Amino acid sequence: SSNQMWGGRFASGPDAIMEEINASIGFDKKLYAQDIRGSIAHATMLAKQGIISSEDKDKIVEGLNTILSEIEAGRFEFSRKLEDIHMNIEARLATLIGPAAGRLHTARSRNDQVALDFRLWVKEELVKTDAALTDLITALLDKAEEHADTVMPGFTHLQTAQPVTFGHHCMAYVEMFGRDRSRVRHAIDHMDECPIGAAALAGTGFKIDRHMTAEALGFRSPTRNSIDTVSDRDFALEFLSVASICAVHLSRFAEEIVIWSTPQFGFIRLSDAFSTGSSIMPQKKNPDAAELVRAKTGRINGSLVALLTIMKGLPLAYSKDMQEDKEQVFDAAENLELAVAAMAGMVRDMTVRVDRMRAAAGSGFSTATDLADWLVREAGLPFRDAHHVTGRAVALAEQKGCDLADLSLEDLKSIHEAITEKVFDVLTVDASVASRTSFGGTAPSEVRKQIAWWRGRN
Ligand code: ARG
Repeated sequence: SSNQMWGGRFASGPDAIMEEINASIGFDKKLYAQDIRGSIAHATMLAKQGIISSEDKDKIVEGLNTILSEIEAGRFEFSRKLEDIHMNIEARLATLIGPAAGRLHTARSRNDQVALDFRLWVKEELVKTDAALTDLITALLDKAEEHADTVMPGFTHLQTAQPVTFGHHCMAYVEMFGRDRSRVRHAIDHMDECPIGAAALAGTGFKIDRHMTAEALGFRSPTRNSIDTVSDRDFALEFLSVASICAVHLSRFAEEIVIWSTPQFGFIRLSDAFSTGSSIMPQKKNPDAAELVRAKTGRINGSLVALLTIMKGLPLAYSKDMQEDKEQVFDAAENLELAVAAMAGMVRDMTVRVDRMRAAAGSGFSTATDLADWLVREAGLPFRDAHHVTGRAVALAEQKGCDLADLSLEDLKSIHEAITEKVFDVLTVDASVASRTSFGGTAPSEVRKQIAWWRGRN
């Protein structure tokens, strides 16, 4: 038989494959609450404008609330024949309240309906993302505070560069997740316009009040262009780009956790709660959560590329291709939520191995720059000359198999006669980090300022 929603011009029903490729109910049932909220706002507006009677409106609202509780109680039977969440709900409404149900879709199309439902969902998801990131930042601020003085090697090219503090390193991630939060807020702001009332694409001749529905549904204003409204999926793309950038941050951190927790580095120990064992090697403790955070990033970035590619060739306005937007966003959202929560858990639970970090910080000639800076400051050498002299000191230490600070004063004097005993004050890792007091630098005093700045903003 033909479709009860749009079957007027059809003589027969769809092929089984048609039904399968066409149906979205398997995933868009997630939008049930947004769909019902949107329909209640729409029906209320229709009644207020005199387009439907207030008796019909009351029946519609009551029926929709019944459906809401049916779905939430798991008592609703979703049907693939009814394609999507919109038609599943409307068909049930007809069963519950009879002909009045048929008036709900006045001055509305599924095109503006789905744009509304999905936008409401994405907006809510972004609010959740913001809260999850706030929690992760709090965990990082606590760790950073605890380890504002903990010295570790800072790396470039993954080669020892200069000593930094672990607190400072944690605060680098706070900056990244802080920017992610600000991107989340901007994204919410961009999508804060209400699609309902654009109808199929051209608007409607009914005297609707789009400002009323926009306000009832918590939007700043209605969208301005009905064609754009039903063909725009920027809000979904923006969610996916914000999620992808955030996931990249999570993934870099996850990668560091994987490296740090190896016996070779041994900078941190993950808690039992966030690691797994091996079924064959009894000694193993694997950083699976970090690895999976790293992997989820591939998946989230893939969703962004998928939707960009789905959208890139679509003429205005709505095309059914756009139905494929939801699975990408739902999957990315679910996995981003998991990844952020797992990261917050790992940060809170990890044990920082202060001695291992300190020992590593002092190896690899990490205070060579401090020696060069000392020669500039105390002996008046131009930095390029100081760099060369220090390079020779490093070569000598390497040849002797010791660190810079283990060279004797005679050794150092043989390289440059201006070097005095006082140079040893700057060759320790503590002196090195304490001296980096430039704004944003690694000195514990500066790191504490960064922490205080973020405490007031997170
Ligand atoms: N299930 C559809 C989607 O997700 C709803 C909109 C359908 N509109 C249409 N004209 N067929 O995009």
